[in-house]
Amino acid sequence: MKKLTTAAGAPVPDNQNSLTAGVRGPVLLQDVWLLEKQAHFNREVIPERRMHAKGAGAFGTFTVTHDITRYTKAKIFSEVGKQTPVLMRFSTVAGERGAADAERDIRGVAMKFYTEEGNWDLVGNNTPVFFFRDPLKFPDLNHAVKRDPRTGMRSAQNNWEFWTGLPEAIHQVTIVMSDRGIPVGFRNMHLFGSHTFSFINAENERFWVKFTFKTQQGIKNLTDAEAEAVVGKDRESSHRDLYNAIEAGDFPKWTAYVQIMPEKDAETYHLNPFDLTKVWPHGDYPLIEYGVLELNRNPENFFAEIEQAAFTPANVVPGISFSPDRMLQARLFSYGDAQRYRLGVNHHQIPVNAPKCPFHSYHRDGAMRVDGNHGGITANEPNTQGEWQEQPDYREPPLKIDGNADRWDHRVDSDYFTQAGNLFRLMNDTQKQALFDNTARAINGVSADVVQKHIDHCSQCDPAYGAGVAAAIKKLA
Ligand code: HEM
Repeated sequence: MKKLTTAAGAPVPDNQNSLTAGVRGPVLLQDVWLLEKQAHFNREVIPERRMHAKGAGAFGTFTVTHDITRYTKAKIFSEVGKQTPVLMRFSTVAGERGAADAERDIRGVAMKFYTEEGNWDLVGNNTPVFFFRDPLKFPDLNHAVKRDPRTGMRSAQNNWEFWTGLPEAIHQVTIVMSDRGIPVGFRNMHLFGSHTFSFINAENERFWVKFTFKTQQGIKNLTDAEAEAVVGKDRESSHRDLYNAIEAGDFPKWTAYVQIMPEKDAETYHLNPFDLTKVWPHGDYPLIEYGVLELNRNPENFFAEIEQAAFTPANVVPGISFSPDRMLQARLFSYGDAQRYRLGVNHHQIPVNAPKCPFHSYHRDGAMRVDGNHGGITANEPNTQGEWQEQPDYREPPLKIDGNADRWDHRVDSDYFTQAGNLFRLMNDTQKQALFDNTARAINGVSADVVQKHIDHCSQCDPAYGAGVAAAIKKLA
């Protein structure tokens, strides 16, 4: 139907001329079409995501290529060749909804696998680690990288004060300041689940796991100067690159790998395996290949399918679960809560968020309930009708946790520098110089004490790192 109606379905006879008293007279209040059109327009903007507001996404397929059923009973992995539909949204972190894409920043990647046992969401980044490891600091990170309360402007001082105040940030800061800090587009970067998650197999054994997806398009990055030129011409460069590639049939792909640690190893491994500022070296836990992700369909409607998409690490399925990583634990609350505010309590009914398998969730009522609201089915459990039966077969194995409840100082584990130093030592000379120069430009204008603190942290990673950054800062000055 191409003919225009009001929201209530009545024909709109005139969409050019308001209803006025006479040819030059004022508008009449009874022009209900004018009122409806304006009122709806005034409400078109919904809150943006608190972080990762600027993004783009697409649909595709995940295909199992290697058997990992001895580690997990998740049906998505049940046989080689099995395909599962997926939605992915990529983003930058700090910029608001209108920000340019080609900025030096982490890239987010959110994946929703529509499995036959519910939606599994993996909400990760293009880096394997994070700035810190206690979730109490997350709102501070947001405030530090977003706008200064007084000026309303972004502030390098706030940013570096925060990062240098948390020495554990140096690993992630090194990645962001490296030559990988501005990917050419979303297709040209590796993707990481970052946290430690768990797999549970058919024998109810638990494994700790980390997810990695390697780009098949190759890693490609922009220098600061190239990014400046790109932003000058196109603020949507990464979004456009993804969209155009998919429209042209050049479907981006990532090879899926998992690192697997037997549950018991966690007790004796020399690192805390649940510390989000650390990686598990591949020498200890090698990458095991199991699948391929392909994006092959652009959304039909950006708002409906990408802006309204709601990803949360809380969405797991039997065979895939959480870990004691305290950052992950906080995220299990944060995303659904943010989405209840951003999209409403019934956001799981929005088609892009709804499971594609049969589901029967107990919740009822609430704003914008748009299905049948379970009709006359009883609203209590227990009941005499056998409704709302729990499914004890899906209970996870018990997780051993001990220790007294306290605000334990996570800084007892204070090796913030070894892994960042190892990363630095892996870089060739050109990459090292890019790291020095990018850092110098990013920290330019920040107070001397904060700059010195950062140089000290770099030096603790590797004396050459500190010296290189110090020299680059001096040269720029
Ligand atoms: C988005 C909170 C750490 C990746 C968000 C949103 C919130 C949030 C509230 C907006 C959600 C929405 O409105 O739909 C937090 C908290 C964290 C944390 C409290 C730590 C305690 C992380 C980490 C990663 C990450 C460690 C990656 C490993 C993302 C991504 C998005 C996002 C990719 C965008 C999701 C999308 O595309 O819709 N985060 N976050 N966050 N976060 Fe986090």
